[in-house]
Amino acid sequence: MTEKEMTQKDTHSDSETNTGEAIRHIFGEHLFSEKVVLVTGGSRGIGRSIAIAFGALGGKIAVNYSGNETAARETCSEIEKLGSKAIAVQFNVADSSAVAEGIKRIEKELGSVDILINNAGISKDNLAVRMKDEEWNATVDTNLKGTFNCCRAVMMGMMKKRSGKIINVSSVIGLTGNAGQVAYAASKAGVFGLSMSLARELASRNIQVNTIAPGYISTDMTAALGEKLVNDVLAKIPAARLGHPVEIAKTAVFLASPAADYITGQTLAVDGGMTM
Ligand SMILES: NC(=O)c1ccc[n+]([C@@H]2O[C@H](COP(=O)([O-])OP(=O)(O)OC[C@H]3O[C@@H](n4cnc5c(N)ncnc54)[C@H](OP(=O)(O)O)[C@@H]3O)[C@@H](O)[C@H]2O)c1
Repeated sequence: MTEKEMTQKDTHSDSETNTGEAIRHIFGEHLFSEKVVLVTGGSRGIGRSIAIAFGALGGKIAVNYSGNETAARETCSEIEKLGSKAIAVQFNVADSSAVAEGIKRIEKELGSVDILINNAGISKDNLAVRMKDEEWNATVDTNLKGTFNCCRAVMMGMMKKRSGKIINVSSVIGLTGNAGQVAYAASKAGVFGLSMSLARELASRNIQVNTIAPGYISTDMTAALGEKLVNDVLAKIPAARLGHPVEIAKTAVFLASPAADYITGQTLAVDGGMTM
């Protein structure tokens, strides 16, 4: 089965403009008016969909990216078409000084961050016996340390306001493990521990920290898996299809909304029933 066929049962279109319209249809247009939202890895895939969703709901969006400036600018222009402000901000989430600089720029241009979505992530897969130091370090530094770096950089501003939402994008692989993905699984499992500890530290300041564990979502990351592997995965998904990035975006919107003010330290698996 091709990837197109796998997602065709899905009612979601993959056009970014439709992402904005679909989100507005559910949540209205003003849910995040005046809120400053940082989406790491907002240039492509799930992060792009999240950035557009929050832009569609009135947020001022900082679209972080690593190297793909053109893609980040495309995300910003989709948000601007919806009438919201967006800036592209390059920094490597694994580099704490670069993160601090990037956050300073966001604070100067948009204001202090109200909502942080830690979405930037990579996978450098290999069997454990063949795993190179560089593959392990790049994966853990980006996915786990990168998440921590961004949380730490925005925390003080949120504490001063006594308000904030942090949403960390982990993975079902962090819940179940996967042969050939030791570094990725360890980094994503680490995100759960980090999120629960932060949730405990910040709850009394009215800052909620939650985690989304996506299943297999149609993006560049899953396109790299190849058809055979995707078909194997599909057999394990009760919904019998891959997820669409907008389905993760809707969950992020819910967790960042006042509807989730009493939810913290939780993980929501958005995976078509894969891990139940
Ligand atoms: N797709 C899935 O099935 C799936 C399932 C479970 C979890 N997830 C998680 O969801 C998140 C997004 O996945 P995706 O499939 O949308 O990935 P993707 O299409 O490969 O996009 C990755 C994004 O992360 C950015 N990025 C990578 N390394 C970075 C770094 N060091 N600093 C800043 N930005 C960086 C990329 O920026 P550039 O464009 O500049 O390269 C890009 O915007 C990841 O954390 C992933 O682990 C995905």
